[in-house]
Amino acid sequence: MEVKLSDGRIIPMEMHKIKIVQQTNLASLEDRKSAIRNAGFNTFLLRSHDVFLDMLTDSGTNAMSDNQQSSMLVSDDAYAGSESFSKLEKSVQDILGLQYVIPAHQGRACEHLLSRVFVKPGSFVITNYHFTTTKAHINLYGGEVLELISEAGRETASTVQFKGNMDLDMLRDAIEKNGKENIAFIRMEATTNLIGGQPFSMENLKAVSEIAKNFGIMTVMDCSLISENAYFIKTREAGFEDKSIKDIIQEMAAQVDLIYMSGRKSTMARGGLIATNSPKIYREILPLVPVYEGFITYGGMSTKEIEAIAVGMREMVDLDIAGSGAEFIKFFVNRLEELGVPVVTPPGGLGCHIDASRFVPHIPWNEYPASALAAAIYLVTGSRGMERGSLSMDRTPDGEEVPSDMELVRLAVPRRTFTLSQLEFMADRIAWLHKNRELIQGLRWVDEPPVLRFFIGRLDSIDGWEDALINTFTAEFGDSR
Ligand SMILES: Cc1ncc(COP(=O)(O)O)c(C=O)c1O
Repeated sequence: MEVKLSDGRIIPMEMHKIKIVQQTNLASLEDRKSAIRNAGFNTFLLRSHDVFLDMLTDSGTNAMSDNQQSSMLVSDDAYAGSESFSKLEKSVQDILGLQYVIPAHQGRACEHLLSRVFVKPGSFVITNYHFTTTKAHINLYGGEVLELISEAGRETASTVQFKGNMDLDMLRDAIEKNGKENIAFIRMEATTNLIGGQPFSMENLKAVSEIAKNFGIMTVMDCSLISENAYFIKTREAGFEDKSIKDIIQEMAAQVDLIYMSGRKSTMARGGLIATNSPKIYREILPLVPVYEGFITYGGMSTKEIEAIAVGMREMVDLDIAGSGAEFIKFFVNRLEELGVPVVTPPGGLGCHIDASRFVPHIPWNEYPASALAAAIYLVTGSRGMERGSLSMDRTPDGEEVPSDMELVRLAVPRRTFTLSQLEFMADRIAWLHKNRELIQGLRWVDEPPVLRFFIGRLDSIDGWEDALINTFTAEFGDSR
């Protein structure tokens, strides 16, 4: 919920009270410098103890509700036929309107199962935009990803409300050019993670589904952030303002043959699942679950996680909960924009994405401007975001670097986790960094893994630029915070 203050400002209102907190630590500047160096300038490799606000991801870091926590205490630890799984099935049936549920230990495990069953060497997966783990699984099974995002999706600053839409002309062309029999499936990601958590419209989803049906191609929806996408449909798309989040979610799920989701995002738990109304698809995937995940009634999840998803799925259709992340993100994005920091607009459903190409235009893409900026943000805030740019692209099989469409630093805003004063602090320090952006320089590889290199790769700063940054910062703010 948002409220208007008497001075005209609109602020997000937390529709919850905080019952349990975790103490956090704002490390001294010297400690931050050694922490980022020890981490190979990769924010994934920082220790949580050295991080003040952990904005790396919203995956598995959202604050659970009291009902979720209490449900975990009554979970049924049966290897087979657990009551907890029956509750999950019931939640999926009631909320998503889908009959058959396949559990998996997290979102990428669902992607693995789907790729194993449906992707053949030489086949294509058409998507609005790829996600790192999705693409890795498809490629590992010999498939190729075709990204057909609308033109606005590739622009960082825009007023287009549904930048996650697929381009329909490109979709028809891609099917005709590559042959419908070579398309493994068409995938729509509900709020496209890598380009700023941008939603697609119901109109676009229906049109994609219609085209797919006409060609007889299977459709898949990545529902990891489905309640956020539904919230944007309700608040941005004409004709949906009076519909409930639950009705919108069911209408979305009804457009596709199969959905999968990470349970770590909209449902604010852990784990993952695949769901469908097709007995044929269900039977094709199910036999692989005991091979890769665990028995078909837990799929690699603890029964506690299963309970938490079952409750989280029912809670995510509450308008105040569905909008809780999006409204905080809007506040943060607007605040940074007011302070002159280049950010992705309109605000999306995952976090605030800073446009490193405009923030540090002097750093060439192959010196990883977004990674360098993420490291610099850590130095001046003690808080971490994540690079979403060329470092997140793996090399081609020939070893060529692939420039990303966008060079972004993602500052995820986990739901119900941070306060407005923490976001104000972040905005203030990032605005300072923007004024002093010339001090940030690029990075070079020290240790580059062959696949999903952004997770564990190590780099170093070119010419040790962090020393000058820290000295300038200390001159203004003193030597600690
Ligand atoms: C859109 C999307 N799909 C899939 C995944 C992978 O899910 P998990 O982290 O649970 O493996 C993520 C994770 O961030 C995601 O954002």
